Amino acid sequence: MKEKLALIKENALKEIAKCVGSTEIEAVRVKYLGKKGELTSILRGMGGLSKEERPIVGKIANEVREHIEKFLDDSISSIKNKEKNEKLQNEVIDISMPGRKQNIGKRHPIELTLNKMKNIFIEMGFSIEEGPEVEYDYYNFEALNIPKNHSARSEQDTFYINDNIVLRTQTSPVQARVMEKQKPPIKMISPGRVYRSDAVDATHSPIFYQMEGLVIDKGITFADLKGTLELFAKKMFGDDVNTKFRPHHFPFTEPSAEMDATCFVCEGEGCRVCKGSGWIELLGCGMVHPEVLRRCGIDPEEYSGFAFGFGVDRMVMLNYGIDDIRLLYESDMRFLNQF
Ligand code: DAH
Repeated sequence: MKEKLALIKENALKEIAKCVGSTEIEAVRVKYLGKKGELTSILRGMGGLSKEERPIVGKIANEVREHIEKFLDDSISSIKNKEKNEKLQNEVIDISMPGRKQNIGKRHPIELTLNKMKNIFIEMGFSIEEGPEVEYDYYNFEALNIPKNHSARSEQDTFYINDNIVLRTQTSPVQARVMEKQKPPIKMISPGRVYRSDAVDATHSPIFYQMEGLVIDKGITFADLKGTLELFAKKMFGDDVNTKFRPHHFPFTEPSAEMDATCFVCEGEGCRVCKGSGWIELLGCGMVHPEVLRRCGIDPEEYSGFAFGFGVDRMVMLNYGIDDIRLLYESDMRFLNQF
């Protein structure tokens, strides 16, 4: 028995000394000191010893266990220490390493222009309304006095989702939505994206921006329309800018017009930007057609109003001297960083 114990001690110490990792050393602990371990089974077998032998062997066995335990504890703590140091080594942060450059975003020229336009209208007491880009054919056309088969539909090459749903070709449907749910007085603008299946070139993009405007109240006249839009042009491009209204046709306004402003590059002399005319076309506008008011639940005998629609991209291009609309949608940092 004594020899057996001595052998167990010798083997255990040897094996512990060889261990390099904590899982390994734990296995050795279980092998010798665990419930089914070698030393444990010896202690269990002590019942078979004589009365005299029992305390002697018991004492030796306890010493062996203590010895192994002590050696184990020391080894475990030195292995843990070593492992911790290795881990810290691997996690070292090199504080001298140069940082990664963060690119700071800039506002897009469309947003810059839209913000300027919005602020001018907000100053004049307009609210901002939004409408869906995926729109019912009804709001995009029918409510605006453009029935099926109307020739005006072919001017706006439409992306159809199905027979009743389109990608809106204009921001004008927001007019109809607002008139349906709000009682006059109404004084709103609605900027947003619109879609047309045009072939892409320097002046056409399948996605572009418009800004709609609508004013409805008792006694609104074409003079209110002119006054509002002239003031807008001066605030947008400067006090020297003049405006003129040319008769035009839109199905949802009567009478309809287009507004031109004196070219802010050549101030009316004629240049490349205004193609020599001295004037730049800014928007479509008109007095809201009585039929449109009626369809949207507003009595045209009681109320009248005007509406207008800007092509925002055009304003951006004119504002910054950009000659290709595609630049606005390509997200090229070399271009965008200039603003
Ligand atoms: N929706 C028209 C277009 O896309 C622009 C427009 C013209 C809007 C006259 C209006 C308006 O509100 O009164 O061509």
